[in-house]
Amino acid sequence: MQIRKIKKAVGTIKVPGDKSISHRAVMLGSLANGITSVSGFLSGADCLSTIDCFRNMGIEINIDDDNVIVYGKGLHGLKQPNKMLYTGNSGTTTRLLCGILAGQKFNSSITGDASIQKRPMGRVVKPLSMMGAKIENEFCPLYITGTNLKGIDYKMPVASAQVKTAILLAGLYANDETVVREIEKSRDHTELMLGAMGADINVDDLNITVRKTENLSAIDVNVPGDISSAAFFMVLASIMPNSEVTITNVGINPTRTGIIDVLKDMGADITLENVHTNAGESIADITVRSSNLKGTTIGGDIIPRLIDELPIIAVAAVFADGTTTIKDAEELKVKETNRIRAVVDEFKKCGIDITETDDGMIIHGGKSISGADFKTYGDHRMAMSLSVLAQLADGDSTIDDSQCACVSYPNFFDDLYGLE
Ligand code: S3P
Repeated sequence: MQIRKIKKAVGTIKVPGDKSISHRAVMLGSLANGITSVSGFLSGADCLSTIDCFRNMGIEINIDDDNVIVYGKGLHGLKQPNKMLYTGNSGTTTRLLCGILAGQKFNSSITGDASIQKRPMGRVVKPLSMMGAKIENEFCPLYITGTNLKGIDYKMPVASAQVKTAILLAGLYANDETVVREIEKSRDHTELMLGAMGADINVDDLNITVRKTENLSAIDVNVPGDISSAAFFMVLASIMPNSEVTITNVGINPTRTGIIDVLKDMGADITLENVHTNAGESIADITVRSSNLKGTTIGGDIIPRLIDELPIIAVAAVFADGTTTIKDAEELKVKETNRIRAVVDEFKKCGIDITETDDGMIIHGGKSISGADFKTYGDHRMAMSLSVLAQLADGDSTIDDSQCACVSYPNFFDDLYGLE
């Protein structure tokens, strides 16, 4: 697809619902007793995969635009699926399902697309096995024999909300208490939603304790806009001259706002308005105006707070004066594609001065760059980041697979081209 260039980014955007919260609303709603009503649901491919999996386990789920009704059947109400569960491109669906399925009274199996089959599942299989789970394989397809689980005290080797959540969900079924100790704080949407549904869960900074739960109560979930989707427009408006974009109703849970901290540190003009809280999740309207960015260093415990935004932060670095170093971000190698390699290879096509490192990249920014014919590697966040890069490059660009943006942001190109 040829990227049509806009001249400035001006307007108001409502980005689609938060992907992490949408997944959890369907999963926990299915395990709750009663009707969970979800508004602002992200009808992207990943969350639709989650719905499909739970429908295959006997849960009735109605979708009407971004409103979803989940008719929960309780923690022991899932039925054995009559086929292998298919999670598409979604790591969150795959890993969280492992935690739920390990403690069921039935057997099941899970697989996904070519990307999912290459992503490491050992990181959930290992701790779940310590709980007594019987899961065959460390890559999809996974074969799960439902069994009784016991609690563990687990120090996580990686900062990962997916691993943390899989263990916490298994912990709902385990005989004794389960403690998960994080090395760095990762997104805490699971803890917030489980707490709101009445689970026996306690959060003490980096340590989370959950105990066997008999009953989760259905709640109404208002899903805020996804800050990971807002990030593309935050960077675009910061760099493109004469721009001002307001993104309304964006989730600003502190475990997700690393992008705001980094862009502000780089000199971005960002204001938050209408800040409020709904069911423990903070929400705001975010306005971003053009500014001159400067390079920075990004590493340490901020990484889990912006892990999905690193490709678009790399775009910001290209147009920032000076050097930007991204470190401690090895996790990028095991996302939908190896995002360190993909960013470096694609950016080099434009003449960008970028070097791959073991745990990130170094970008010398502030120079003009040319357009290019980009590859997305089937990765939604690469597709959107490269489309923003293309807007800011001199000359024309194409991307090979714009369609993959639908994983997290089905209307991305409508919103982008609507900004002028
Ligand atoms: C997610 C957690 C993160 C993130 C992913 C969604 C979640 O993955 O990259 O897009 O919803 O829990 P990790 O937990 O593997 O870091």
